[in-house]
Amino acid sequence: MKVILKRVALLLLVLIVMAVLVIEISAIVCRSAYRVRHYDVSIEGVETDATVVLLSDLHSYQFGEDNQRLLRTIREIRPAAIFCAGDMVNAGAGDAEIRQLVSFIADLQEIAQVYYSLGNTELQNMLDGGADVLRLVRNVGAIARLDDYVETEIGGNRVNVGFTMGHYGYTGWQWANAPDYAMEEAVGADGTPAIVLMHMPESFFLDIHDTWTGDLYLSGHTHGGVICVPGVGGVFAPTQGWWPEYERGYHTFDDGRFQMIITPGMAGHDWIPRVFNMPEISVIHLHPQS
Ligand SMILES: [Fe+2]
Repeated sequence: MKVILKRVALLLLVLIVMAVLVIEISAIVCRSAYRVRHYDVSIEGVETDATVVLLSDLHSYQFGEDNQRLLRTIREIRPAAIFCAGDMVNAGAGDAEIRQLVSFIADLQEIAQVYYSLGNTELQNMLDGGADVLRLVRNVGAIARLDDYVETEIGGNRVNVGFTMGHYGYTGWQWANAPDYAMEEAVGADGTPAIVLMHMPESFFLDIHDTWTGDLYLSGHTHGGVICVPGVGGVFAPTQGWWPEYERGYHTFDDGRFQMIITPGMAGHDWIPRVFNMPEISVIHLHPQS
């Protein structure tokens, strides 16, 4: 009996060591590699095919020195526009991190027009008296707004682009006065195809979007659930909590009236590494509606 118990204990130990090793290897891979995932989206009013790149949640991380590897990949995609959907630097980012971000945005801007929207980290930094990321990235050519939209051209299409962090914490009367709510009602009101950068997809799940006018919402914030269980999904996402339903991918709401792509982004969450959760450059192919 004692011999059997010893063998079971040894087997358990070996299994635990193997599991830890596999998790550690996956975490290393997810820190050094990334995938490119393609999405096809049709929007009424889009007249010609156009390819855009969506980045989010880089959290001051670098893939290659000065993100040269990331830049090379994005350059090869030849996008008509590059969307940054927030949390590109950490909360509490110091001067060096901010300089690194601005330099990266300047490099991206040489590839295609960058549209930069704030995440909770950039907004928190600004509220705490830190760097004015909106102004700094505008200085290197990016189009950057908060709770506002711009009329622009992307790949030969007239498009309105909206910018908001989203305000999940808002309820009731707060929404009626929220500046992002006014933007949501206006961005596509004239029938122009409307793409909204909205860092927190959860803003959309409050059933307060009846009067919103965006066609395609591009979000991040979830980090893909940070740690994923293969075949099951992400374990935890900021704001959504445990086993998030909307951790990544393409979603539609209100019978297809609204489309949303949630990118799992590029970095882990605070000290927690990504596991079985490859960082992602999201490539969106915009098409006319057939
Ligand atoms: Fe984030």
